[in-house]
Amino acid sequence: MAARVSETSVRTAQSAEKSAFLAACSRQPVSHRPIWIMRQAGRYLPEYRALRAKVDFATLTRTPELAAEVTLQPLRRFALDAAILFSDIMTPLQGMGVELEFEPAPVVREPIRSVAQIEALPELVPGRDVPYVIEAIRIVRAGLARNLPLIGFAGAPFTLLCYLVCGRPTKEFAAARSFLYAQPEAAQRLLTHLADAMAQYLAAQAAAGAQALMLFESWAGLLAPREFTRFALPAVRRTVDALRSAGVPLIYYLNDGNALMPAVAALDVDVVGVDWRSDLGEVRRILGPQKAVQGNLDPAALFAPPQELRRHADAVLQAAGHTPGHIFNLGHGIWPDTDPDAVARLVDHVHEHGVGV
Ligand code: CP3
Repeated sequence: MAARVSETSVRTAQSAEKSAFLAACSRQPVSHRPIWIMRQAGRYLPEYRALRAKVDFATLTRTPELAAEVTLQPLRRFALDAAILFSDIMTPLQGMGVELEFEPAPVVREPIRSVAQIEALPELVPGRDVPYVIEAIRIVRAGLARNLPLIGFAGAPFTLLCYLVCGRPTKEFAAARSFLYAQPEAAQRLLTHLADAMAQYLAAQAAAGAQALMLFESWAGLLAPREFTRFALPAVRRTVDALRSAGVPLIYYLNDGNALMPAVAALDVDVVGVDWRSDLGEVRRILGPQKAVQGNLDPAALFAPPQELRRHADAVLQAAGHTPGHIFNLGHGIWPDTDPDAVARLVDHVHEHGVGV
């Protein structure tokens, strides 16, 4: 039986004048706790799978009408407080001419290992290289309720380096990590190039209508604080510094980033996305009062019986505390075998019980 989205919950997400999501990003009080779900558009939704049966993933990302349609799919089902553009962190690299396949994880045909390859990487010119992303943003904005904001995103430079250097994701990303030690100058060069390209890419997304910008550091957990501070952090700072003038909130998500939070506290972003292993209260204490947090329910918790799921959601709300500046989310992307009804129940519960702060 399909769980229906409660009407209170829909009203909660769509009625307030100002977006609760955007208010929480700037640590303003909200009437209800905003929630969206990482990878909310994707394979756990039957309507996404139906479309994917006809169209491959890369084509979906390059066809603005289809990318916009997939972006909106979860918003029709659930009373989410934000949309996230349907695309992939590798899409802009593909647009720059890096040959890769989605199998479904990205596989780069010729991994980057030499300075010559790094020097041969072109600049990213969004209007020329990824016009379909820009167009998809315009279509989504036109189709969204007035106060439901759209999040644009990119991969953070180090996470993109992991895919480019390794070619194929592996558990340890050994080739990427050893590259940092064996060829630190080449690594810095690649990170700088990616930082500038993603700054261009995200600025173009904001100009097209994205109302918040998120950087995914999905492989942060590969690095010890020292290497994170030497390589990943200066690169993401370069992107962030270039984007401050875009005038939209910036979100930096780190997967497995607990040990890195003291270093992240010094980064000029509005929101830090937190994985499920960390305690949100502890992270807020480390980050200080100038940052909002987003997270961090374990994606596996959506497999708990309804009563238990509510308890786990309450534990996240409690850990986040009563200081303004919390956006409810999962600690990482939703799993493809998740029951959509569990998502509906979670969204409604957070709206009804996550009192505004
Ligand atoms: O969140 C959303 O709903 C927007 C869409 C989105 C996708 N990828 C669609 C996608 C977003 C924000 C991403 C980001 C992304 N892509 C990240 C960062 C977030 C994270 O999960 O850490 C990373 C590391 C990637 C790289 C990537 N792309 C992987 C590892 C995979 C395969 C694993 C998976 O989830 O299937 C992809 C392919 C991909 N990207 C799919 C989707 C819906 C599945 C493709 C398919 O339909 O076959």
